[in-house]
Amino acid sequence: FNVTWDIQAAEKAGYEHFMLKEIYEQPKVIRDTLTPRLPMDQDDVYLDGINLEKEVLEKITRIYVIACGTAYYSGLIGKELIEKYARIPVIAEVASEFRYKDPILDENTLMIVVSQSGETADTLAALRMAKKAGAHVLGVVNAVGSSISREADDVLYTWAGPEIAVASTKAYSAQLCAMYLISMKISLVLGKLSTEEFRELRAALYQLPSQVEHILENANLIEAMAKKHVNMKNVFYIGRGLDYAVAMEGALKIKEIAYLHAEPYPAGELKHGPIALIEEGSLLMGLLGQESLFDKTVSNIKEVKARGASIMAIAMEGNKEVEQVAEDVIYIPRTHWSLVPLLENIPQQLFAYYIAKNLGHDIDKPRNLAKSVTVE
Ligand code: G6P
Repeated sequence: FNVTWDIQAAEKAGYEHFMLKEIYEQPKVIRDTLTPRLPMDQDDVYLDGINLEKEVLEKITRIYVIACGTAYYSGLIGKELIEKYARIPVIAEVASEFRYKDPILDENTLMIVVSQSGETADTLAALRMAKKAGAHVLGVVNAVGSSISREADDVLYTWAGPEIAVASTKAYSAQLCAMYLISMKISLVLGKLSTEEFRELRAALYQLPSQVEHILENANLIEAMAKKHVNMKNVFYIGRGLDYAVAMEGALKIKEIAYLHAEPYPAGELKHGPIALIEEGSLLMGLLGQESLFDKTVSNIKEVKARGASIMAIAMEGNKEVEQVAEDVIYIPRTHWSLVPLLENIPQQLFAYYIAKNLGHDIDKPRNLAKSVTVE
Protein backbone atom coordinates (compact mmCIF):
# COMPACT_ATOMS: atom_id res chain seq x y z
CA PHE A 1 0.00 0.00 0.00
CA ASN A 2 1.61 3.19 -1.16
CA VAL A 3 0.31 6.72 -0.90
CA THR A 4 1.97 9.37 -3.01
CA TRP A 5 1.17 12.80 -1.78
CA ASP A 6 1.58 15.38 -4.50
CA ILE A 7 1.91 18.71 -2.72
CA GLN A 8 1.52 20.74 -5.91
CA ALA A 9 -1.72 18.95 -6.77
CA ALA A 10 -2.97 19.40 -3.22
CA GLU A 11 -2.36 23.12 -3.36
CA LYS A 12 -4.29 23.27 -6.60
CA ALA A 13 -7.34 22.12 -4.65
CA GLY A 14 -8.47 19.79 -7.42
CA TYR A 15 -8.03 22.31 -10.25
CA GLU A 16 -5.86 21.27 -13.16
CA HIS A 17 -3.79 24.45 -13.02
CA PHE A 18 -3.08 27.23 -10.56
CA MET A 19 -4.37 29.68 -13.12
CA LEU A 20 -7.80 28.05 -13.14
CA LYS A 21 -7.86 27.86 -9.35
CA GLU A 22 -6.99 31.54 -9.15
CA ILE A 23 -9.68 32.45 -11.68
CA TYR A 24 -12.23 30.65 -9.48
CA GLU A 25 -10.98 32.39 -6.34
CA GLN A 26 -12.05 35.76 -7.67
CA PRO A 27 -15.45 36.08 -6.00
CA LYS A 28 -13.72 35.70 -2.62
CA VAL A 29 -10.84 38.02 -3.56
CA ILE A 30 -13.26 40.75 -4.61
CA ARG A 31 -15.25 40.35 -1.39
CA ASP A 32 -12.09 40.44 0.76
CA THR A 33 -10.70 43.52 -0.96
CA LEU A 34 -13.92 45.51 -0.99
CA THR A 35 -16.21 44.77 1.90
CA PRO A 36 -14.05 45.71 4.93
CA ARG A 37 -13.51 49.12 3.32
CA LEU A 38 -17.06 49.74 2.30
CA PRO A 39 -19.45 49.28 5.22
CA MET A 40 -23.09 49.16 4.20
CA ASP A 41 -24.24 51.49 6.97
CA GLN A 42 -21.82 54.38 6.39
CA ASP A 43 -21.47 56.61 3.35
CA ASP A 44 -17.68 56.52 3.24
CA VAL A 45 -14.71 54.47 2.04
CA TYR A 46 -12.25 53.33 4.74
CA LEU A 47 -8.76 52.93 3.36
CA ASP A 48 -6.75 51.37 6.17
CA GLY A 49 -5.62 54.68 7.66
CA ILE A 50 -4.27 55.95 4.34
CA ASN A 51 -3.92 59.68 4.36
CA LEU A 52 -6.15 60.97 1.59
CA GLU A 53 -7.68 63.72 3.68
CA LYS A 54 -8.98 66.99 2.31
CA GLU A 55 -5.83 68.99 3.21
CA VAL A 56 -3.68 66.47 1.31
CA LEU A 57 -5.92 66.13 -1.74
CA GLU A 58 -6.63 69.83 -2.19
CA LYS A 59 -2.93 70.38 -2.87
CA ILE A 60 -2.70 67.64 -5.48
CA THR A 61 -2.55 69.02 -9.00
CA ARG A 62 -1.55 65.84 -10.80
CA ILE A 63 -1.71 62.11 -10.24
CA TYR A 64 0.52 59.47 -11.82
CA VAL A 65 -0.43 55.82 -11.99
CA ILE A 66 2.73 53.79 -12.58
CA ALA A 67 3.04 50.02 -13.02
CA CYS A 68 4.06 47.23 -15.41
CA GLY A 69 2.15 44.51 -17.26
CA THR A 70 -1.25 43.56 -15.95
CA ALA A 71 -0.91 45.95 -13.01
CA TYR A 72 -0.50 48.79 -15.54
CA TYR A 73 -3.70 47.77 -17.30
CA SER A 74 -5.57 47.99 -14.01
CA GLY A 75 -4.01 51.43 -13.58
CA LEU A 76 -5.47 52.56 -16.90
CA ILE A 77 -8.94 51.89 -15.50
CA GLY A 78 -8.01 53.80 -12.35
CA LYS A 79 -6.92 56.77 -14.44
CA GLU A 80 -10.23 56.95 -16.27
CA LEU A 81 -12.26 56.69 -13.07
CA ILE A 82 -10.28 59.26 -11.08
CA GLU A 83 -10.50 61.72 -13.95
CA LYS A 84 -14.18 61.06 -14.48
CA TYR A 85 -15.22 61.37 -10.84
CA ALA A 86 -12.58 63.54 -9.15
CA ARG A 87 -11.68 65.74 -12.15
CA ILE A 88 -7.93 65.67 -11.38
CA PRO A 89 -5.58 65.07 -14.34
CA VAL A 90 -4.11 61.56 -14.20
CA ILE A 91 -1.20 60.24 -16.24
CA ALA A 92 -0.89 56.46 -16.44
CA GLU A 93 2.43 55.19 -17.68
CA VAL A 94 4.49 52.02 -17.67
CA ALA A 95 7.30 52.25 -15.15
CA SER A 96 10.07 51.36 -17.61
CA GLU A 97 9.22 54.47 -19.66
CA PHE A 98 8.43 56.77 -16.79
CA ARG A 99 11.73 56.24 -15.00
CA TYR A 100 13.86 57.40 -17.94
CA LYS A 101 11.88 60.55 -18.63
CA ASP A 102 11.98 63.85 -16.90
CA PRO A 103 8.49 63.77 -15.40
CA ILE A 104 6.95 66.69 -13.56
CA LEU A 105 7.10 65.56 -9.95
CA ASP A 106 6.75 67.72 -6.86
CA GLU A 107 5.04 67.84 -3.50
CA ASN A 108 1.74 68.48 -5.27
CA THR A 109 1.97 65.14 -7.05
CA LEU A 110 0.32 61.91 -5.94
CA MET A 111 1.83 58.77 -7.40
CA ILE A 112 -0.12 55.54 -7.26
CA VAL A 113 2.12 52.53 -7.91
CA VAL A 114 0.41 49.23 -8.60
CA SER A 115 2.19 45.91 -8.19
CA GLN A 116 1.17 42.37 -7.37
CA SER A 117 4.63 41.28 -6.20
CA GLY A 118 5.74 44.62 -4.83
CA GLU A 119 9.19 43.81 -6.21
CA THR A 120 9.15 44.86 -9.87
CA ALA A 121 12.42 46.73 -10.43
CA ASP A 122 11.10 49.42 -12.76
CA THR A 123 8.08 50.17 -10.58
CA LEU A 124 10.28 50.42 -7.51
CA ALA A 125 12.63 52.80 -9.32
CA ALA A 126 9.70 55.04 -10.30
CA LEU A 127 8.52 55.07 -6.69
CA ARG A 128 11.99 56.16 -5.51
CA MET A 129 12.08 58.98 -8.06
CA ALA A 130 8.76 60.26 -6.84
CA LYS A 131 9.75 60.12 -3.19
CA LYS A 132 12.99 61.94 -3.90
CA ALA A 133 11.01 64.74 -5.53
CA GLY A 134 8.75 65.04 -2.50
CA ALA A 135 5.67 63.47 -4.09
CA HIS A 136 3.25 61.38 -2.03
CA VAL A 137 3.35 57.70 -2.99
CA LEU A 138 0.43 55.34 -2.51
CA GLY A 139 1.22 51.68 -3.20
CA VAL A 140 -1.46 49.25 -4.32
CA VAL A 141 0.29 46.01 -3.50
CA ASN A 142 -0.60 42.35 -3.07
CA ALA A 143 2.51 40.91 -1.41
CA VAL A 144 2.55 41.99 2.22
CA GLY A 145 5.93 43.26 3.40
CA SER A 146 7.37 43.56 -0.14
CA SER A 147 9.81 46.33 -1.11
CA ILE A 148 7.14 48.57 -2.61
CA SER A 149 4.88 48.13 0.40
CA ARG A 150 7.76 49.11 2.69
CA GLU A 151 8.91 52.13 0.71
CA ALA A 152 5.59 53.71 -0.27
CA ASP A 153 4.20 56.41 2.02
CA ASP A 154 0.88 54.57 2.22
CA VAL A 155 -0.18 51.07 1.18
CA LEU A 156 -3.54 49.77 0.14
CA TYR A 157 -3.31 45.98 0.09
CA THR A 158 -5.20 43.95 -2.46
CA TRP A 159 -6.33 40.87 -0.60
CA ALA A 160 -5.85 38.41 -3.48
CA GLY A 161 -3.65 35.97 -1.53
CA PRO A 162 -0.61 34.31 -3.13
CA GLU A 163 -0.80 34.23 -6.92
CA ILE A 164 1.19 31.29 -8.27
CA ALA A 165 0.40 31.20 -12.01
CA VAL A 166 2.66 33.56 -13.93
CA ALA A 167 -0.25 35.05 -15.86
CA SER A 168 -2.05 37.33 -13.45
CA THR A 169 -5.79 36.88 -12.94
CA LYS A 170 -7.11 37.37 -9.42
CA ALA A 171 -4.53 40.06 -8.66
CA TYR A 172 -5.91 42.14 -11.55
CA SER A 173 -9.47 41.88 -10.25
CA ALA A 174 -8.29 42.90 -6.79
CA GLN A 175 -6.35 45.82 -8.31
CA LEU A 176 -9.51 46.97 -10.08
CA CYS A 177 -11.33 46.86 -6.74
CA ALA A 178 -8.57 49.03 -5.28
CA MET A 179 -8.98 51.48 -8.17
CA TYR A 180 -12.72 51.67 -7.50
CA LEU A 181 -12.11 52.36 -3.82
CA ILE A 182 -9.41 54.98 -4.43
CA SER A 183 -11.38 56.86 -7.07
CA MET A 184 -14.48 56.85 -4.86
CA LYS A 185 -12.50 58.02 -1.83
CA ILE A 186 -10.77 60.89 -3.64
CA SER A 187 -14.03 62.06 -5.21
CA LEU A 188 -15.92 61.85 -1.91
CA VAL A 189 -13.29 63.82 0.00
CA LEU A 190 -13.23 66.50 -2.69
CA GLY A 191 -17.02 66.66 -2.68
CA LYS A 192 -17.29 65.49 -6.28
CA LEU A 193 -19.35 62.37 -5.68
CA SER A 194 -22.89 62.75 -4.41
CA THR A 195 -24.24 60.40 -1.74
CA GLU A 196 -26.65 59.08 -4.33
CA GLU A 197 -23.88 58.24 -6.82
CA PHE A 198 -21.77 56.76 -4.03
CA ARG A 199 -24.59 54.50 -2.88
CA GLU A 200 -25.31 53.41 -6.42
CA LEU A 201 -21.66 52.43 -6.90
CA ARG A 202 -21.45 50.66 -3.55
CA ALA A 203 -24.55 48.63 -4.28
CA ALA A 204 -23.12 47.63 -7.65
CA LEU A 205 -19.77 46.71 -6.06
CA TYR A 206 -21.53 44.46 -3.55
CA GLN A 207 -23.08 42.53 -6.43
CA LEU A 208 -19.78 41.81 -8.16
CA PRO A 209 -18.83 38.55 -6.37
CA SER A 210 -22.10 36.80 -7.24
CA GLN A 211 -21.98 38.19 -10.76
CA VAL A 212 -18.48 36.76 -11.22
CA GLU A 213 -19.77 33.44 -9.86
CA HIS A 214 -22.50 33.52 -12.47
CA ILE A 215 -19.94 33.97 -15.27
CA LEU A 216 -17.81 31.14 -13.86
CA GLU A 217 -20.82 28.82 -13.72
CA ASN A 218 -21.09 29.20 -17.49
CA ALA A 219 -17.40 28.60 -18.20
CA ASN A 220 -18.29 25.59 -20.36
CA LEU A 221 -19.68 27.95 -23.02
CA ILE A 222 -16.38 29.80 -23.17
CA GLU A 223 -14.50 26.50 -23.22
CA ALA A 224 -16.50 25.48 -26.30
CA MET A 225 -15.76 28.80 -28.01
CA ALA A 226 -12.04 28.37 -27.32
CA LYS A 227 -12.14 24.92 -28.89
CA LYS A 228 -13.79 26.33 -31.98
CA HIS A 229 -11.27 29.16 -32.42
CA VAL A 230 -8.11 27.35 -31.39
CA ASN A 231 -6.68 27.42 -34.92
CA MET A 232 -6.99 31.18 -35.37
CA LYS A 233 -3.99 32.93 -36.92
CA ASN A 234 -4.25 36.06 -34.86
CA VAL A 235 -6.75 37.87 -32.68
CA PHE A 236 -7.67 41.53 -32.40
CA TYR A 237 -9.27 42.81 -29.21
CA ILE A 238 -11.15 46.03 -29.79
CA GLY A 239 -13.15 48.38 -27.60
CA ARG A 240 -13.66 52.02 -26.73
CA GLY A 241 -13.19 53.82 -23.43
CA LEU A 242 -12.87 51.40 -20.51
CA ASP A 243 -13.47 48.54 -22.93
CA TYR A 244 -10.22 49.40 -24.68
CA ALA A 245 -8.27 49.13 -21.40
CA VAL A 246 -9.89 45.72 -20.85
CA ALA A 247 -8.93 44.73 -24.40
CA MET A 248 -5.27 45.29 -23.53
CA GLU A 249 -5.45 42.87 -20.62
CA GLY A 250 -7.33 40.30 -22.74
CA ALA A 251 -4.74 40.40 -25.51
CA LEU A 252 -1.89 40.16 -23.01
CA LYS A 253 -3.36 36.95 -21.53
CA ILE A 254 -3.48 35.34 -25.01
CA LYS A 255 0.13 36.29 -25.73
CA GLU A 256 1.36 35.12 -22.35
CA ILE A 257 -0.12 31.65 -22.24
CA ALA A 258 -1.36 30.81 -25.77
CA TYR A 259 1.69 32.30 -27.58
CA LEU A 260 -0.56 33.74 -30.25
CA HIS A 261 -0.36 37.13 -31.85
CA ALA A 262 -3.00 39.19 -30.12
CA GLU A 263 -3.39 42.88 -30.65
CA PRO A 264 -5.54 45.25 -28.62
CA TYR A 265 -6.74 48.28 -30.50
CA PRO A 266 -9.04 51.23 -29.88
CA ALA A 267 -12.03 50.28 -32.03
CA GLY A 268 -12.17 53.56 -33.91
CA GLU A 269 -8.47 53.44 -34.76
CA LEU A 270 -8.53 50.06 -36.47
CA LYS A 271 -9.16 51.55 -39.85
CA HIS A 272 -5.91 53.54 -39.60
CA GLY A 273 -3.70 50.57 -40.31
CA PRO A 274 -4.37 47.28 -38.52
CA ILE A 275 -7.47 46.48 -40.56
CA ALA A 276 -5.01 45.64 -43.37
CA LEU A 277 -4.04 42.56 -41.33
CA ILE A 278 -7.56 41.18 -41.19
CA GLU A 279 -8.14 38.09 -43.33
CA GLU A 280 -9.78 34.67 -43.17
CA GLY A 281 -8.46 33.00 -40.02
CA SER A 282 -8.33 36.21 -38.02
CA LEU A 283 -10.49 36.47 -34.94
CA LEU A 284 -11.96 39.68 -33.65
CA MET A 285 -12.96 39.99 -30.00
CA GLY A 286 -15.30 42.95 -29.72
CA LEU A 287 -15.73 44.40 -26.24
CA LEU A 288 -19.12 46.03 -26.03
CA GLY A 289 -19.71 46.51 -22.32
CA GLN A 290 -19.76 50.31 -22.50
CA GLU A 291 -23.32 50.81 -23.64
CA SER A 292 -22.89 54.48 -24.49
CA LEU A 293 -20.34 53.41 -27.12
CA PHE A 294 -22.09 50.23 -28.22
CA ASP A 295 -23.26 51.38 -31.66
CA LYS A 296 -19.89 52.92 -32.49
CA THR A 297 -18.01 49.71 -31.76
CA VAL A 298 -20.61 47.58 -33.53
CA SER A 299 -20.02 49.56 -36.72
CA ASN A 300 -16.27 48.91 -36.39
CA ILE A 301 -16.99 45.21 -35.96
CA LYS A 302 -19.00 45.22 -39.19
CA GLU A 303 -16.01 46.65 -41.07
CA VAL A 304 -13.84 43.79 -39.87
CA LYS A 305 -16.49 41.16 -40.52
CA ALA A 306 -16.75 42.27 -44.13
CA ARG A 307 -13.07 41.39 -44.51
CA GLY A 308 -13.43 37.77 -43.47
CA ALA A 309 -12.62 37.63 -39.75
CA SER A 310 -14.58 35.51 -37.30
CA ILE A 311 -16.34 37.61 -34.70
CA MET A 312 -16.68 37.05 -30.97
CA ALA A 313 -18.11 39.62 -28.60
CA ILE A 314 -18.54 40.31 -24.91
CA ALA A 315 -21.60 42.41 -24.12
CA MET A 316 -23.95 43.19 -21.27
CA GLU A 317 -27.08 41.11 -20.89
CA GLY A 318 -29.94 42.62 -22.81
CA ASN A 319 -27.94 43.86 -25.80
CA LYS A 320 -29.20 41.19 -28.16
CA GLU A 321 -28.43 43.24 -31.29
CA VAL A 322 -24.85 42.07 -30.97
CA GLU A 323 -25.94 38.68 -32.28
CA GLN A 324 -26.46 40.26 -35.69
CA VAL A 325 -22.71 40.85 -36.03
CA ALA A 326 -21.04 38.26 -33.79
CA GLU A 327 -21.20 34.49 -34.20
CA ASP A 328 -20.23 33.88 -30.56
CA VAL A 329 -21.44 36.19 -27.81
CA ILE A 330 -20.58 36.05 -24.12
CA TYR A 331 -23.02 38.01 -21.98
CA ILE A 332 -21.98 39.50 -18.66
CA PRO A 333 -24.51 40.44 -15.96
CA ARG A 334 -25.75 44.02 -15.95
CA THR A 335 -23.72 46.39 -13.82
CA HIS A 336 -22.67 50.03 -13.40
CA TRP A 337 -20.61 51.20 -16.41
CA SER A 338 -17.46 51.69 -14.34
CA LEU A 339 -17.54 48.10 -13.04
CA VAL A 340 -17.94 46.54 -16.49
CA PRO A 341 -14.15 45.98 -16.87
CA LEU A 342 -13.99 43.55 -13.98
CA LEU A 343 -16.83 41.41 -15.32
CA GLU A 344 -15.72 41.60 -18.96
CA ASN A 345 -12.28 40.38 -18.07
CA ILE A 346 -13.42 37.11 -16.48
CA PRO A 347 -14.48 35.57 -19.83
CA GLN A 348 -11.23 36.84 -21.35
CA GLN A 349 -9.25 34.97 -18.72
CA LEU A 350 -11.21 31.77 -19.35
CA PHE A 351 -10.90 32.13 -23.11
CA ALA A 352 -7.09 32.49 -22.92
CA TYR A 353 -6.91 29.61 -20.46
CA TYR A 354 -8.87 27.22 -22.65
CA ILE A 355 -7.06 28.24 -25.85
CA ALA A 356 -3.71 27.56 -24.13
CA LYS A 357 -5.01 24.27 -22.74
CA ASN A 358 -6.16 23.13 -26.17
CA LEU A 359 -2.75 24.00 -27.56
CA GLY A 360 -1.09 21.95 -24.82
CA HIS A 361 1.00 24.73 -23.33
CA ASP A 362 2.51 24.93 -19.87
CA ILE A 363 -0.17 27.24 -18.57
CA ASP A 364 1.18 28.06 -15.12
CA LYS A 365 4.78 28.55 -16.28
CA PRO A 366 4.74 30.00 -19.78
CA ARG A 367 7.99 30.13 -21.72
CA ASN A 368 10.25 33.18 -21.37
CA LEU A 369 8.17 34.77 -18.60
CA ALA A 370 8.81 35.37 -14.92
CA LYS A 371 6.23 35.99 -12.23
CA SER A 372 8.21 38.84 -10.78
CA VAL A 373 10.70 40.88 -12.80
CA THR A 374 13.23 42.09 -10.26
CA VAL A 375 15.89 43.06 -12.78
CA GLU A 376 15.69 45.85 -15.31
C1 G6P B 1 5.52 40.23 -14.86
C2 G6P B 1 4.38 39.25 -14.66
C3 G6P B 1 3.05 39.93 -14.98
C4 G6P B 1 2.90 41.17 -14.11
C5 G6P B 1 4.09 42.12 -14.26
C6 G6P B 1 4.08 43.21 -13.20
O1 G6P B 1 5.64 40.52 -16.21
O2 G6P B 1 4.56 38.11 -15.49
O3 G6P B 1 1.98 39.05 -14.70
O4 G6P B 1 1.73 41.84 -14.45
O5 G6P B 1 5.31 41.42 -14.10
O6 G6P B 1 4.28 42.61 -11.96
P1 G6P B 1 3.86 43.21 -10.59
O7 G6P B 1 4.28 42.19 -9.58
O8 G6P B 1 4.62 44.50 -10.42
O9 G6P B 1 2.40 43.44 -10.60
